[in-house]
Amino acid sequence: MGIYSDRLFPWVIDKLMAREVMSEQRRQVLEPVKGDVLEIGFGTGLNLPFYSSAVDRLTIVDPNAGMHRRAAKRINESPLSIESVQLRADDALPLDENRFDTVVSTWTMCSIPDLSRALVEISRVLKPGGRLVFVEHGLSPEKSVASWQNRLNPIHRWLGDGCHLNRDIAQFISGSPLALEKCDQFYMRDTPRFAGWLYRGTATK
Ligand SMILES: C[S@@+](CC[C@H](N)C(=O)[O-])C[C@H]1O[C@@H](n2cnc3c(N)ncnc32)[C@H](O)[C@@H]1O
Repeated sequence: MGIYSDRLFPWVIDKLMAREVMSEQRRQVLEPVKGDVLEIGFGTGLNLPFYSSAVDRLTIVDPNAGMHRRAAKRINESPLSIESVQLRADDALPLDENRFDTVVSTWTMCSIPDLSRALVEISRVLKPGGRLVFVEHGLSPEKSVASWQNRLNPIHRWLGDGCHLNRDIAQFISGSPLALEKCDQFYMRDTPRFAGWLYRGTATK
């Protein structure tokens, strides 16, 4: 892992993704989460303040050691019981099948190289009836915005450490073993449109 991924990118993510407009989304998505929870692409731990005491245990997965280092203080100060796994969500996870009540993904599906594989793995570890809850950015339905997203994607993937601007998240989930239950789609305020089209919802096993 290069110095950009390991040092600079976690610092940038920690600043950019702590914006209040993103905290509003985190609050909404995480408020109903309970039980035994897996969060993929944990990053620097910006979701931690939004988990309620209804969460019994949190397992976090992220392949980037720099993210884990930046998250360490938040993890230590959290009242939650947290287990950390430094792996990719599109690898075979060393986690039992049918285990989790909820899997959480916030602004992560854009960055997972093999997202279809990760969704199969999420489905494997979820209990029957368990939920994936997500808020993600991705492909806009507006042609002019989508064409900019396609144009900017190569440079954005480089700057964003693998982040795609143009993934149709609803389509990925619909094509997975999970059943898409609800997916609100809208532009997040105070954000350039090419990065601001959000997919926010739930899918069940
Ligand atoms: C844009 S950041 C979002 C971080 C966090 N979810 C948040 O909401 O603040 C994307 C995260 O996905 C992680 N990531 C990249 N590839 C991944 C993979 N294959 N499996 C799981 N996480 C991955 C990155 O290390 C990074 O922490």
